[in-house]
Amino acid sequence: MDKLLITGGNALHGAVRASGAKNAALPILAATLLADGPVTLTNVPRLRDITTTLDLLGRMGARLIQDAGDRISVEPRALTSCVAPYELVKTMRASILVLGPLVARYGQADVSLPGGCAIGARPVNLHIDGLRAMGAEVTVEGGYIRARAERLQGARLVMEMVSVTGTENLMMAATLAQGETLIENAAREPEVVDLAEFLKAMGARIEGAGTDQIHIRGVERLGGADYRVMPDRIETGTFLVGAAMTGGRVRVTETRPDCLDAVLQKLRDAGARIEIGPDWIELDMQGRRPRAVDIHTAPHPAFPTDMQAQFCALNAIAEGVGVVAETIFENRFMHVPELQRMGADIRVEGSLAVCHGVAGLTAAPVMATDLRASAGLVLAGLVASGETLIDRIYHLDRGYETMEAKLLTLGANIQRIAGEGRIPSP
Ligand code: UD1
Repeated sequence: MDKLLITGGNALHGAVRASGAKNAALPILAATLLADGPVTLTNVPRLRDITTTLDLLGRMGARLIQDAGDRISVEPRALTSCVAPYELVKTMRASILVLGPLVARYGQADVSLPGGCAIGARPVNLHIDGLRAMGAEVTVEGGYIRARAERLQGARLVMEMVSVTGTENLMMAATLAQGETLIENAAREPEVVDLAEFLKAMGARIEGAGTDQIHIRGVERLGGADYRVMPDRIETGTFLVGAAMTGGRVRVTETRPDCLDAVLQKLRDAGARIEIGPDWIELDMQGRRPRAVDIHTAPHPAFPTDMQAQFCALNAIAEGVGVVAETIFENRFMHVPELQRMGADIRVEGSLAVCHGVAGLTAAPVMATDLRASAGLVLAGLVASGETLIDRIYHLDRGYETMEAKLLTLGANIQRIAGEGRIPSP
């Protein structure tokens, strides 16, 4: 299993390009199943979760061509199976995103139930209830969701909770349903909007994506399309927090400043100077220590839970006390005990983490437990004195494209140690 070795102390300086957004690319790849023609996607990040999705689509019979860069072509018309097996779904919960497209386009889907995960129970009841309301017959047997429908019927769907992939699954299903669907209390995340734009490029009729009411008029068929995936706002935010923690100056290019309002505001509150261009963000900390900030995670446009671990790392070394409230997932503070091993003074009380900033962290061997927790530990390693060894970084590889190579270009002292102990070239 690969590890990361980080020698802390270097401030991050320079420019880094944002990769394509994982959380946009995953639903868009699932949505290719709806198409009655070839689809070409660009700006698809090279990540483990993308490989898993391609594996899933390939096993269903879709023909895929991935070039050496960021382009993937999908020919979905060769589909031979509508099954998403447990062995793939258990490694990536987002596999549930094929459920809506399969039922809408092929009238059947057998998708393994994802089960719990490190950060919480994460049920999929909203996905199932929505499809039932659209006329699908859905049963859960032997750990699989089995859905069948002649043709889905448009419906008014009131989401009991704001769910990102729930909204995406039902929006995709509704594109080919008979009649109109209204999704109320829909997720407003930018990735929902990106998916809607892709569906519209295929011929779907969707209004209101980005608001809490999405209106979809079902059409008879969707065609192929060429589409460029939006940049990754969480990756962007992670590099900016890295600059803020190390007292550095970093410009993230080819990104979307408009998607990061809540995060940028917290970085300003922490004392950072931020400049924004049409597709770049530059953060300058001018060598100063950040101030601790209070964080309250909530659905977009509020502060994203996917940036919470990174801000815990920032608060750990900041001046003052910051209270972090996690309202989305019930068990998303697993980075805290690891940060404590590095000398952080953070106390978890239920859904709150009370962070008393310390003057410095000290390196220790730590373990990554989930994707964003890993990012928080990497950031902590950048400022800790000594060598931090982070184990189980396969979590990081699920969602950050060549993170250590990007950090190296910004001046970090970081290297990947391959499972067998070899040190591969970056
Ligand atoms: C997506 C993102 C993930 C992010 C999360 C919250 C993708 C691939 N993943 O995950 O990175 O952390 O949004 O922004 O886009 N819930 C239910 N029943 C359901 C569905 C959800 O109770 O049927 C609950 C969840 O347990 C959680 C909350 O709703 O407490 C929000 O989860 P949701 O928005 O669905 O997260 P994901 O879409 O899985």
